[in-house]
Amino acid sequence: MAGTGIFTEILDGEVYKYYSDGEWRTSSSGKSVAIINPTTRKTQYKVQACTQEEVNKVMELAKSAQKSWAKTPLWKRAELLHKAAAILKDNKAPIAESLVKEIAKPAKDSVTEVVRSGDLISYCAEEGVRILGEGKFLLSDSFPGNERTKYCLTSKIPLGVVLAIPPFNYPVNLAVSKIAPALIAGNSLVLKPPTQGAVSCLHMVHCFHLAGFPKGLISCITGKGSEIGDFLTMHPAVNCISFTGGDTGVSISKKAGMIPLQMELGGKDACIVLEDADLDLVASNIIKGGFSYSGQRCTAVKVVLVMESVADELVEKVKAKVAKLTVGPPEENCDITAVVSESSANFIEGLVMDAKDKGATFCQEYKRDGNLIWPLLLDNVRPDMRIAWEEPFGPVLPVLRINSVEEGINHCNASNFGLQGCVFTKDINKAMLISDAMETGTVQINSAPARGPDHFPFQGLKDSGIGSQGVTNSINLMTKVKTTVINLPTPSYAMGAGFISRL
Ligand code: G3H
Repeated sequence: MAGTGIFTEILDGEVYKYYSDGEWRTSSSGKSVAIINPTTRKTQYKVQACTQEEVNKVMELAKSAQKSWAKTPLWKRAELLHKAAAILKDNKAPIAESLVKEIAKPAKDSVTEVVRSGDLISYCAEEGVRILGEGKFLLSDSFPGNERTKYCLTSKIPLGVVLAIPPFNYPVNLAVSKIAPALIAGNSLVLKPPTQGAVSCLHMVHCFHLAGFPKGLISCITGKGSEIGDFLTMHPAVNCISFTGGDTGVSISKKAGMIPLQMELGGKDACIVLEDADLDLVASNIIKGGFSYSGQRCTAVKVVLVMESVADELVEKVKAKVAKLTVGPPEENCDITAVVSESSANFIEGLVMDAKDKGATFCQEYKRDGNLIWPLLLDNVRPDMRIAWEEPFGPVLPVLRINSVEEGINHCNASNFGLQGCVFTKDINKAMLISDAMETGTVQINSAPARGPDHFPFQGLKDSGIGSQGVTNSINLMTKVKTTVINLPTPSYAMGAGFISRL
């Protein structure tokens, strides 16, 4: 159970502690932040409302711990990460339980998130050992006008303190996708969990604590965004920010100083369906892509753009599958669970009502109970409806009927977002042309959008983000290239003893 067994020390009465200087602590604020269970809409957990002074302390410790961590051999950093991954996987049950309670993720998906996170940490440790253990060697005479008098050695050095801010929908997985690359590369790490998802994050951090990482290297600070949000992101000690979330990322990027940013800020992933597509495959992928975790994934299918000639048949197939989705509590592994908050449910409802007023066809009756919204397919959506452009982050999926592939591509490219997209066709040549034409960071051919496997590059164009994720790209983003140039007094081309004897 969450907060018991090896996790007892992270709890103080009914409030979870924050993590600083290798210890679990209670904030001097004496205040806490409540975490509302989306299903019951009652307070499930409480976490510390940390103060700006506590942020300052954590940053000071992170700066100093990083200096010695950068001198810790790479194999040793990897060894500790492997240890943390094993502890995390061994304790998947209590962590998954907190995911169920604080973000209403179905129980089986919550377990998958923890296991996937352990695998990501281990993969990152292995990849880090390879890519950080090698550098480049360049010679000056490849550039015009130069002789072979300069030998340039390149290697990768850590940035310093990395601030990681994961979102509510993958609080564990999208936290470790930032923590593991930062640590293997020799950085220290300050984690600010989302409020909903904070308790899962605190449990995950305890696994790193038990693995034996040095004091101060990892910290986890909880609290209200209004109190410590800007203070953290604008803190002078921070050398890199890795953020996943919504619009807040835009304001962070405007306020952050001259530091590398890794941002993933959502998407409106289009699913373009051609006339020759396998419609059963498309329907299954629309269900998986549009409705898993109740549509609360940045990579969810958020608009279906289907050729008019096959639209009726596709809509019927999707409708039949929607009817089979189970709706209810995450503890019972229902497919559709409550969305994360009342304000989120209200926002989704606003999009649905706008579509209703403007004449969309409702394939199911709209139904809501508290934060629980029944899955809804909206057919005959037109571009003047908000749902054609905005991301509901809920179990509501619009279908726009198109008369040409160009119309589909134009709709996809007119979006402010450009995370992923997908195209369904049996013609690989057409698929490649469409993939090239779509302005998105990734295009999936004949499958729904998805970030994983977690070592694949993951990036968004336009408002969907800055930088690229995936294990290798994250390690590279969290390091800087350092070069040393050996300058020779004379060009050195020849080899062998004859040349040496002339010295
Ligand atoms: O919500 C954003 C996540 O990066 C999506 O990850 O494709 O594994 O669901 P996923």
